[in-house]
Parts: sequence; structure tokens; C-alpha cells
Amino acid sequence: MSDAARTYLSGIQPSGLLHLGNYFGAIERHVALQERPGRHYYFIADYHALTTVHDAELLRRNVFETAVAYLALGLDPERAVLFRQSDVPEVTEIAWLLACVTGMGLLERAHSYKDKVARGIKPSVGLFTYPVLMAADILAYDSELVPVGRDQVQHVEMTQDMATRFNETFGSRVFVRPEMLMPETAAARKVPGLDGQKMSKSYGNDLWIFESGKKLRKRVNRIVTDSRPPEEPKDPDELFLFDLLALFLPPDELEGLRDAVRRGGPGAPGYGDLKARLAEAIEERFAPARARREELLAHPERVEEVLSAGGAEARRKATEVRDRAYRACGLR
Ligand code: ADP
Ligand code: TRP
Repeated sequence: MSDAARTYLSGIQPSGLLHLGNYFGAIERHVALQERPGRHYYFIADYHALTTVHDAELLRRNVFETAVAYLALGLDPERAVLFRQSDVPEVTEIAWLLACVTGMGLLERAHSYKDKVARGIKPSVGLFTYPVLMAADILAYDSELVPVGRDQVQHVEMTQDMATRFNETFGSRVFVRPEMLMPETAAARKVPGLDGQKMSKSYGNDLWIFESGKKLRKRVNRIVTDSRPPEEPKDPDELFLFDLLALFLPPDELEGLRDAVRRGGPGAPGYGDLKARLAEAIEERFAPARARREELLAHPERVEEVLSAGGAEARRKATEVRDRAYRACGLR
């Protein structure tokens, strides 16, 4: 399978600045996948962000920052189509067709919806039908492989159900049934935040990918540790600080630090030392991307050019699929 040209697609919501969890759980992988033969679609899910962001200026800024981040972190517009979801309004038409063959029960079982309601969010109709729009995003480009994190698995399964249901209802093979691609390493599946829970904007425990200097050091210093002194031997597997270090340090250095912490005694590194090393390694890892980001910020028209060209290309494909779906169900 790996050598066959396939169609890959994924999206990310511009609901805030991208953090290390988004990088290791999503963007790093999207950038790596573009090397594979095939078609690659990556989009900024601004329609979806409207379920939570109700501030026009903020949404515009987040969309721009997300596009800049993708490009600075290595997405190559020559190989992958980068676009804004709302530049392809056909997805909302496809979403309507899917909504008409989707049972309420399917949406009522969505974990992500139930979690948000349990956290006290007053649901809008948009939040409830979020998975239908996400299915349309995937099906609009005949996507075959959808790289997503664990939190999106159910949404992709729902997409498979909706594609099958539509095809069965109208007796044709309108939609391609997509498969998901899960992250390969445990580290990428769950990047811990400053408090050890999963890093997430909604928990306020995140580290912005492009943070640097004093601000970065201050933020890294907030990583929760205990009050044991450096000399006391500790099990590094119990310290989530090491899960973060593992994402940045070369394996031999990481092993050396783990041993030193395990042994304890005089000269063993304390939490402050480990945090200082982490901040330094983060800064170094993203230095080239940070420089590219600065350059893009100075030339916003280049970013807009990429998004407009990507949007036009994505729209051509989505229009073809929309027409196929319209014909199948009798709208043409
Ligand atoms: P957030 O939880 O901050 O709102 P999103 O839900 O918008 O983040 O996630 C966007 C993408 O980043 C998804 O593919 C998700 O799987 C991935 N992701 C988010 N947080 C993490 C994390 N802590 N570890 C690994 N992947 C993550
Ligand atoms: N729901 C995804 C998230 O929050 C974003 C998304 C929207 C998406 N449409 C998609 C991801 C289609 C993959 C495919 O991360």
C-alpha cells in the first residue's frame, strides 16, 4: 500500500494558537506524509471553529496564524493543498445531503459532543451536527486516508457510516469510504501539558510551538513537579517531565538524564535543571520554523496566495464530488 498513490486529508481547527500537542499529534505527521506519493489535502477548519469562537477578529487571526504555522513548520504547497475550509462552501451542501441520511442516534452517541455538554457548554445545533460537517470535509475530496489523533477516531467512524448509508440509500458508489491513520508512537498520541493532563487549549496547560526566550522559560518552569530534592533517587517513568524531554532530546542524552535521576545523590539534576534543558531544546528545535514564521508575518500576502490557490484547487475537486452526489439523490 505504501507506494500506491493515495489521497490523504486532515484538518485542524483554528480555535487558538497551536501547541506542542498539535505539533506532535498532528502537524509533524501531516508534514511527513506529504513525502508519500498521492494527493494531500490539509485544511483549516474555520467553519468548525465557529462552534466555539464567536469573535470575528480572533477567528481571522487564528486562521492566519494556523496557516503561517503549517507553512513555517514545513508544509509544502507544491506537494500539499493547504486551504481554508470556508473557501469550499460545497462542503456545507454535502453536509446537508449526509444529514438527510443520518440518524439522530448516531450523533447523540458522539463522545466529543457528550463531553462538551458534560463540561457545561450549552450546545448549539452546529456543535451537535459537527460530525456531519466533518464527514463532508472528508468525503468531498474522495479521501482515502485520514491521519487523526485518538480523539477523532469516532468522528472518522461516523464518516464511514454516513458514506455507506448514502451509497446504500441511493444505490451507487458516490462516496469513497475512508480509513484512518493513527499516530504511530505513544508519545505522539498524548503529549502531556504543564499539569500532566493531556495538553489542550481548553485546559490552559499548553505550550505554544513558537514560544521563545524568557516567556518560554517561565512557561516551562510552570511544569508541575514535587518538592523532592535532587539527591533523592526517583523513578523517571513517574515524571511526565520526561515524556516532554523525550520529544526533544537525543536518546543518549535522555538515557543519561534518566539514569542520573534514578541514581540521585550529589550532583544529580534537579527539576530546575531538567526544565532549563527542556526550554533550551524546545527553543533550538523550532528555531528554523520560528525564523520562517517571522518571514511569513512580514509577507502576509504570500500566505494569502497559498490559501487562495489551495482553496481554488480543493473547490474544483469538491464541486465534482458534490455534483456526483446531487445527481445520485435526484437534485439534478
Ligand atoms: P485542543 O485539545 O488543544 O483543543 P484540538 O482538539 O484542536 O486540540 O487538536 C487538534 C489536533 O491535535 C488533533 O489531531 C489532536 O489529536 C491533536 N492533539 C491535540 N492535543 C494533543 C496532545 N496533547 N497530544 C497529542 N495530540 C494532540
Ligand atoms: N475535528 C477535527 C479536530 O478537532 C478537525 C477536523 C475537521 C478534521 N474536519 C476534519 C480532521 C476532517 C480530519 C478530517 O481536530
